[in-house]
Amino acid sequence: MKKKVSVIGLGNRGTEYMGFLKYFHSSKVEIYALCDIRRQALDDIAPKYSVPEDRQFMSPADFFARGVISDALIIATQDASHYEIAKQAILTGYKLILLEKPVSGVKAEYTELRDLARENNVILIICHVLRYSNYYGKIKQIISSGAIGDIVTVNHTENVGYFHFAHSFVRGNWRDEFTSTPSILAKCCHDIDLIAWFVNSPCVSVSSVGSLKYFCKDNAPEGATPWCMGGCKAKKSCPYDAEKLYITDPFWKAKFIKYMKRTLTGKAKNTKADVVNAVKTGDYGRCVFLADNNVCDNQLVTMVFENGASAVLNMNGFSHKMFRECHIIGTKGELVGYGNKLKLHIFGGKTKKINTGFIPSGHVEGDIRLISGFVKILCGETSDLTDITTIEATVTSHDIALAAEQSRKNGGAQVLMQNF
Ligand SMILES: NC(=O)c1ccc[n+]([C@@H]2O[C@H](COP(=O)([O-])OP(=O)(O)OC[C@H]3O[C@@H](n4cnc5c(N)ncnc54)[C@H](O)[C@@H]3O)[C@@H](O)[C@H]2O)c1
Repeated sequence: MKKKVSVIGLGNRGTEYMGFLKYFHSSKVEIYALCDIRRQALDDIAPKYSVPEDRQFMSPADFFARGVISDALIIATQDASHYEIAKQAILTGYKLILLEKPVSGVKAEYTELRDLARENNVILIICHVLRYSNYYGKIKQIISSGAIGDIVTVNHTENVGYFHFAHSFVRGNWRDEFTSTPSILAKCCHDIDLIAWFVNSPCVSVSSVGSLKYFCKDNAPEGATPWCMGGCKAKKSCPYDAEKLYITDPFWKAKFIKYMKRTLTGKAKNTKADVVNAVKTGDYGRCVFLADNNVCDNQLVTMVFENGASAVLNMNGFSHKMFRECHIIGTKGELVGYGNKLKLHIFGGKTKKINTGFIPSGHVEGDIRLISGFVKILCGETSDLTDITTIEATVTSHDIALAAEQSRKNGGAQVLMQNF
């Protein structure tokens, strides 16, 4: 019999995961029930998975009122609702839950979920998708083999991409730390998770500097208007012009933007008029200098670990492309990762280009493998949770990110993790 999976939150992430379940695992898994606060989302998605009316829910409360109706649950709502919904899921009796990151921006909340998961024997997996990719898996494997000796330091950069940063962290869902979380947690809990995974030692101290340097009123060009399509005089030379980014650019700055029409309009299928309307009057058409964003557009975090290793994370919103750099320096050699490319240098030896296998755009490969790992656990094909991003592992990345924010707000003062 097929395993049943229910999904709460039918936006970009929820539907992507559902797509992978259907495409790669339909012989083992069926989408059983759906929940979203938007009727439109249910109407768009339910027919694709043949989910009948009585298994469509418009609130988590209605969904949980039915008790445990599936073997597993995916929670892919926006950040601020993760804690409440995940807590309810555990208390209702779900034993396997896939929860989107970040878990919460409040330490008491994510540690409570960790404790509840422990007490109730729940496997609560957080979607740190990068860990599951071949690329980062290969890095971990090389480190674990001892080839580069002991890690001395890690230098990791998350180049968010200027158009991506504007989309998500200036105009979009993650622009306000009070309705979502600080950008260092929202964007970089993945990066911090990777660093902590590579170093494999408890973090003892954190310090951080950063700011919202550019996307603020002081930098608005002359003639800027609150909406790009509202008569802005600086439109032509502005790389953030929403009309260009979302409507007229024939090449799409990135595939990423192309798939964002649903985010702009809230509908799965869109006409050009829908998109134009959304850009004229919606959040994604706003001037990046005159919006109500407050999260940092650049931040540096330094970390010191118990084994003596150190790390620096540099998050910035200004690169031409979206890509990560990861330079891991060991006592015997180094790994140099740039985008999809990876080189291994052994000191006194040869330099090797490492083949990291098939890499589709963005972190899609990690997403696919995360879902495969989830299905294996769901179907009882493995009980090995080593390297699975359970809530136990996630607490580390969230602690470091929040400690970094505390440090940044205190002028870069060192935060000792034992006091955090
Ligand atoms: N793991 C990753 O790499 C990664 C990447 C991007 C986003 N995310 C995270 O995934 C989550 C979802 O992001 P998204 O881009 O899919 O967002 P989205 O806005 O596209 O989708 C969220 C969906 O949840 C629904 N929703 C909101 N509140 C709800 C509630 N209380 N009950 C039921 N449904 C509710 C919304 O109507 C929407 O359909 C976010 O927390 C985000 O930070 C993770």
